[in-house]
Amino acid sequence: MVVVILLLLFWAQAVIAQLSLPSPPFLPPRASSGAQPSAQDSIPNPQWSTLLGNLLYFYEAQRSGRLPGTKRVSWRNDSAVNDGSDVGLDLSGGYYDAGDYIKATFPLSFTIMSICWGATDFGGGYDLANQTAYLDDMLRWGLDWLIKAHPSPRTLYVLVSESSVDNAYWGGDLNIPQDRTSYQINDTSPGTDAAASASTAFAACSNLYANRSLGPSFSTPASLQNSTYADILLNHAQDLYSFAVNASGGKQTYQTAVPQAGAAYGSSSYGDELAMAALLLAWATNSSDYYSQAETYHAQYSLGVKNVVFNWDSKAPGLTVLFAQLANAGASFAGNLSYWQEEAERYFDRVLSGGDPSFKTQGGLLWYPGDSNSASLNPALNAAMLLTRYARIATTQEKRRSYLDFARSQLDYALGNNPMSAPYVVGSNPNSPANPHSAMASGGNDINNIDTSPPQEAYVLYGAVVGGPDVQDRFYDIRSDWPETEVALDYNAPMLTLAAMQVLNNTSDPFFTRLQDGAFAAQKPSGKPCDAAFPCKGGSGLSRGATVALGVILPIVGVAIIAGTWYCYRLRRHRYRY
Ligand SMILES: *[C@@H]1O[C@H](CO)[C@@H](O)[C@H](O)[C@H]1NC(C)=O
Ligand SMILES: *[C@@H]1O[C@H](CO)[C@@H](O)[C@H](O)[C@H]1NC(C)=O
Ligand SMILES: *[C@@H]1O[C@H](CO)[C@@H](O)[C@H](O)[C@H]1NC(C)=O
Ligand SMILES: *[C@@H]1O[C@H](CO)[C@@H](O)[C@H](O)[C@H]1NC(C)=O
Ligand SMILES: *[C@@H]1O[C@H](CO)[C@@H](O)[C@H](O)[C@H]1NC(C)=O
Ligand SMILES: *[C@@H]1O[C@H](CO)[C@@H](O)[C@H](O)[C@H]1NC(C)=O
Ligand SMILES: *[C@@H]1O[C@H](CO)[C@@H](O)[C@H](O)[C@H]1NC(C)=O
Ligand SMILES: *[C@@H]1O[C@H](CO)[C@@H](O)[C@H](O)[C@H]1NC(C)=O
Ligand SMILES: *[C@@H]1O[C@H](CO)[C@@H](O)[C@H](O)[C@H]1NC(C)=O
Ligand SMILES: *[C@@H]1O[C@H](CO)[C@@H](O)[C@H](O)[C@H]1NC(C)=O
Repeated sequence: MVVVILLLLFWAQAVIAQLSLPSPPFLPPRASSGAQPSAQDSIPNPQWSTLLGNLLYFYEAQRSGRLPGTKRVSWRNDSAVNDGSDVGLDLSGGYYDAGDYIKATFPLSFTIMSICWGATDFGGGYDLANQTAYLDDMLRWGLDWLIKAHPSPRTLYVLVSESSVDNAYWGGDLNIPQDRTSYQINDTSPGTDAAASASTAFAACSNLYANRSLGPSFSTPASLQNSTYADILLNHAQDLYSFAVNASGGKQTYQTAVPQAGAAYGSSSYGDELAMAALLLAWATNSSDYYSQAETYHAQYSLGVKNVVFNWDSKAPGLTVLFAQLANAGASFAGNLSYWQEEAERYFDRVLSGGDPSFKTQGGLLWYPGDSNSASLNPALNAAMLLTRYARIATTQEKRRSYLDFARSQLDYALGNNPMSAPYVVGSNPNSPANPHSAMASGGNDINNIDTSPPQEAYVLYGAVVGGPDVQDRFYDIRSDWPETEVALDYNAPMLTLAAMQVLNNTSDPFFTRLQDGAFAAQKPSGKPCDAAFPCKGGSGLSRGATVALGVILPIVGVAIIAGTWYCYRLRRHRYRY
């Protein structure tokens, strides 16, 4: 009896620990519904709301650990429930990183930071779409795991199961190999970038849960406020920042301490993470001390205007935007708004004008040689997300308009306005990719015949943004072609914020409702791509990406070596390789 009462109390506790989920639950509609234009223009537009819901649903499919009774993805099972047992801890839960089964803290931290920052600035979109309870659920599944991965102030688990082991397995979630090693950084073997990046996730989400908005230039934070949780998150953020700054082992990239982490997500530097953590903490605590540290790191690590991408390894462009937002919000500690607007606009003007090094493909996709050679949509969507956010505080109407136009062109491209007529979100339209590189969704377990076994992908991985097309705008939709078809936690993040922005502001449908069944089939190239998964020999008809790849094989001139090193470095991004 006592046990029953205790269990009931425990259950009640578990239920009130977060917003209650809608009943009946939101489930992604069939892909065919994405080919039906809405009957009338409205805000929220139902198609954008559904897209937002689908994008969040993807994260539910990526869950690791024991799944709750509220599980919506019927084909997922409990998995990797013993994670952490090798180190005497419970590290079960959290999210699988991509098409594989590793749990990688560094890109997860970036993903969560990006989503929380977006949900703070454009939270009204989640509210209007009735997705805020799912947002809360999604964030807590990640944050609660990050809390477990941070068992003491100067210990952070950065990887569970490594790529070299994981890449040997292709199959469902019931037979994941049990030899999953947990890797940590600590005071004597630190990882400045990983600790600071986890700090950014906690700080950004503390801001969201505490309702610390960036003022009337933006929407209100999504309505999931919980000050208890916000405080817990802030404590972790501060401890991790101290760990990053003051570890007795000094400052170093985390793969120096944990070489296994370098295989999938080697980090190029830690200055950007330090600055981003300090800046988010300044916002969270209203502290000029943290702010001046952010400024110091910004100068010390030369994080000023360069035409680089915004992603899990490269935070500088987002940092500039956040500096400008804080100044715009009139934060008492913040610096000179004009200065940060100038910085941000010099960056964005370079992105828009192209050249050195970015350009637009013929079909109109923003392309960064090297970075875009695998997961090409990611640099473009992150740029679109930052542009749409910054446009609200641009110095002139003209800049505002050009930033929004450019961002819209990238979003439209990703959602089907491209030479393939393919919206690159699984299950959103009949022309969406049918073969995402995802071991769990594939239904196959024959690692030598990923593409044909089974012939049709077993489960529709609704809401997953795939890597994206090649530099000639071609998309082959081949399951083993991870540069184009893999899914990943961080691929969805910018699209999620963009969708929230559209729910708030766009009465008309996403581009894909105009695409009728068969449009992609009519454009789809035959043959094989030419990329890191399908290396091609011979000199003719090479894509730009392959040309750079050749630089690795034939490092004749210095330039080729530099390009090749960069490309190799990007290669580590993927989790699966033959
Ligand atoms: C707020 O979050 C805390 C920590 O997760 C949880 O214990 C509590 O139940 C939450 N409160 C509400 C009202 O949701
Ligand atoms: C959100 O919920 C409200 C109240 O139940 C409902 O009127 C509205 O249609 C819902 N909106 C969406 C986009 O589901
Ligand atoms: C989950 O388990 C069921 C059998 O109960 C199986 O059919 C399904 O494929 C499993 N899901 C995955 C992702 O392996
Ligand atoms: C600290 O981390 C390093 C690198 O992961 C590891 O080799 C070492 O055992 C850890 N130290 C402790 C005390 O756990
Ligand atoms: C959060 O802040 C917004 C203003 O940005 C306000 O309208 C809203 O009521 C606040 N919500 C809570 C729960 O305090
Ligand atoms: C780092 O250590 C110094 C010296 O003890 C201290 O003054 C400073 O506050 C610490 N920094 C952080 C971020 O904890
Ligand atoms: C932030 O700190 C400044 C200076 O100490 C103070 O004037 C201001 O009211 C504080 N703002 C908030 C939101 O607490
Ligand atoms: C603010 O920045 C602008 C642009 O860099 C500069 O012209 C101006 O002098 C600065 N103002 C102050 C008070 O520092
Ligand atoms: C969104 O719509 C509102 C109301 O129509 C408008 O004031 C605002 O400028 C729009 N924002 C953007 C970024 O388009
Ligand atoms: C609404 O979305 C469509 C499709 O993405 C786009 O073409 C249109 O410009 C958007 N409208 C606004 C006001 O953002």
